[in-house]
Parts: sequence; structure tokens; C-alpha cells
Amino acid sequence: MVNTKVILSGITLDNPVIPASGTFGYGYEFAELYDINILGSFSFKGTTKEPRFGNPTPRIAECTEGMINSVGLQNPGMEKVISEELPKMKKVFHKPVLANISGFSVEEYVYCAERINEEEQVGIIEVNVSCPNVHHGGMSFGTSPEAAAEVTKAVKAVTTKPVYIKLSPNVTDIVAIAKACEDAGADGISLINTLMGMRIDLKTGKPVVANKMGGFSGKAIFPVAVRMVYQVYEAVKVPIIGMGGVSTAEDVVELMLAGATAVQVGAANLVDPFACKNIIEALPHVMKKYGIKDLNHIIGGAHK
Ligand code: SIN
Repeated sequence: MVNTKVILSGITLDNPVIPASGTFGYGYEFAELYDINILGSFSFKGTTKEPRFGNPTPRIAECTEGMINSVGLQNPGMEKVISEELPKMKKVFHKPVLANISGFSVEEYVYCAERINEEEQVGIIEVNVSCPNVHHGGMSFGTSPEAAAEVTKAVKAVTTKPVYIKLSPNVTDIVAIAKACEDAGADGISLINTLMGMRIDLKTGKPVVANKMGGFSGKAIFPVAVRMVYQVYEAVKVPIIGMGGVSTAEDVVELMLAGATAVQVGAANLVDPFACKNIIEALPHVMKKYGIKDLNHIIGGAHK
């Protein structure tokens, strides 16, 4: 018997595998395929105050071992998420979830945090200061330590639940930003969101994606995620949720060795809707193969 349970801010997860926001809807879409209660948790689609149609299409570009998306935070808005999506989610998933929120001003982050804080099933509020696909707000709050700290402080002031700040890799010094969030009261750090990327269609000579650029995710970015989780683990005491190109149980172990307490799976869900199920089923075998009895013993193990 191996122990796959991990603890995030007092919340025990049966395993560290969490589908990443924007790749798993509100869960009920995937519950048609398998019992999603095998997941450690999941992070539902990023929610803004107002409904958003998202960016013009095309929004997706294929890449070697990855993809570019420029969705633009499409979502039904906080009121509909609470009144329509979360009741459907509750019917199929019976564990605490991560509520991913975004904003275009500090006030919007505060509004979303305050509203979602009331939802019983929300275990962790994941504050996205790293969306690269909107022209103001989003990533602009996550590329300076001061702005990230301001959002963190404002959200913490109106919430009673653990607050995790989701950081962008599109920065020179990820450590300074993670530290600023921790100092401002963040209970944890999620990283990494997507890397800014671009493709050009040789036939048209024009960008593939209507918004020209987008967020690059998938297997190709995994080494960047490992590096950034490793660096941030050295600098902060709060737990880290690692993500970025995770597609196997081996990747989960590697990110935990770098310093993650739990691991999100993103683009892999879009390639194979059973990706998280496969990873969870493979995890005990991979643990046995590497002589790991308890996942908690390997968190940050690469630093020793
Ligand atoms: C999007 O909706 O554009 C993706 C969300 C993100 O990258 O944070």
C-alpha cells in the first residue's frame, strides 16, 4: 500500500491530481465519461464578474508537443456560475473544489472572491493573475510583485478560505512575485500558467490565432514548470500547486520532487479526456517503481 494523500491548506486530497482551470469545464462534462470523484480535486473554469464571450476565433493553434490558446476568459459570469454551473457540479463531484477567479481591476477580483467565498464546496480560491489573452487585467497583475501583492492583499481581506495565486511564467523573476504574494498573505502559489506564444500560417502569411498571440501549453513547457516550481519552493514556505505540461504520473512525481504539494493537469485533458484518470491509476505503480511509500516524503525532495 502506498499513500497518495496530500494536504493543501488543511484540505486532504486523496491524491495530488487536479485538472487545471479551463480544461475541465465544471466537471459534469467529464462525469459523463467516468466517476470524477477519483480526482484529488479540480479547478473550475476561470470566472469573471461579468459574462465574457471570449476572443475572436480562431483561438487555437497546434504546436509540436503543445498548443496555443487565446480563449480570452470565456465564461458565463459570476452570477450564472453560482446559480447554474455550481449546482450541476455539486451533483457529480462531492469534494472541495478550487474556484479560479479573474478580474480586470482589483475591485473585480475582490467582488469575485467575496461572492465565491460563500460557496460551501469551494475549498480554495485560485486567483488568476496570469491570463495572457486579455489586453488589460489578467497577466498585467501577475507580472509585477507590487500588483500581484495588491490583488493578494485585497482578496485576502474579503475571504475566509485559503487563497492561492496563479502565476505567469512570462516574467524575469518568478521568485520575487511569489515572495510578494506570500508576504501579502497568500496561502499558496499555483504555477505555471501558459507561456506567450505565436504561430504564423505559411499559406496566408498571417498569425494563426485571431488575437495574434496566445498561451502556449502542453508537454513542451514541462521543463519550464519544473524549473519555476523548484525556484519558488526555495523561496516560499506556503504550498505550491505545480502545473505546466503534466501528462503522466512520472511528471507528477517530478514536479513534487521540485517542490509541488499537488499537481494540476491542463492541456493533456484536451488531448485525452481520460488523462487524469490514467495518471491517478498509474501513480501507485510509478511510486512502487521508484520506492516511494508516501508522496508527502518526496515534496521538495530534489532540494535535499
Ligand atoms: C483563457 O481563457 O484565455 C485562458 C485562461 C488563462 O490562460 O489564464
